[in-house]
Amino acid sequence: MVKARHFDRVAKAYDALTKLLLLGTYDRIRKKILSLPLNSQKLVLDLCTGTGYLIKEMHAENIIGLDLSMGMLAVNKEKHKNKKNLQLMRGDAFYLPFKNNAFDAVYWSLGSHEFMKIKPILREVHRVLKSRGSFVLFDIFDPGFLPSKFFVNIIVKYAAELGHMKVYSESGWKELLKEVGFEGDRIRTEVLYKTSILIKADK
Ligand SMILES: C[S@@+](CC[C@H](N)C(=O)[O-])C[C@H]1O[C@@H](n2cnc3c(N)ncnc32)[C@H](O)[C@@H]1O
Repeated sequence: MVKARHFDRVAKAYDALTKLLLLGTYDRIRKKILSLPLNSQKLVLDLCTGTGYLIKEMHAENIIGLDLSMGMLAVNKEKHKNKKNLQLMRGDAFYLPFKNNAFDAVYWSLGSHEFMKIKPILREVHRVLKSRGSFVLFDIFDPGFLPSKFFVNIIVKYAAELGHMKVYSESGWKELLKEVGFEGDRIRTEVLYKTSILIKADK
């Protein structure tokens, strides 16, 4: 279980730390994530939105950002106070407070590795997505080859995440997504900088 209090404590330093961890790819990766084509962008959910890494550049008609940490949400709110199409709310990814088939897209960036149990969250994502809606996930992954494996499983895991982290391989992600209801031929994956994975799965 991820501790919201941990994120409350690091909220003000979070953006600087993430920029450091992404080693100069921070803006490029965000552009890449948000350039994936969507069927519609009327209503989009940024799951575990944090300080709003994606929200800064998102152009959906209506955006909901959900997070458990009030500290992260406060930083997010301050950064995006002029975004009239943004609603930020406290909520738990395990029990999304939305009806079925509500969203055109659900984004989840840099959050999945925090969870030891991920399938219930993926089930929730699938439930709240409209038919033909897209789930877009970006995170570090298990690269399966050296030296990237060393970087992710040792440097990131113990220096940045204090040993608390779970990552999946490319094939592991495909299996997980199929298990929660996405069809195999609608799942696209791309490995970025040998250490991260970008996934688009259409419902
Ligand atoms: C590593 S940050 C990622 C933030 C942002 N998506 C980004 O790309 O920078 C993970 C976020 O997940 C949030 N979080 C942790 N557990 C959660 C839960 N059960 N439900 C919703 N948010 C949660 C944390 O508060 C934190 O803001």
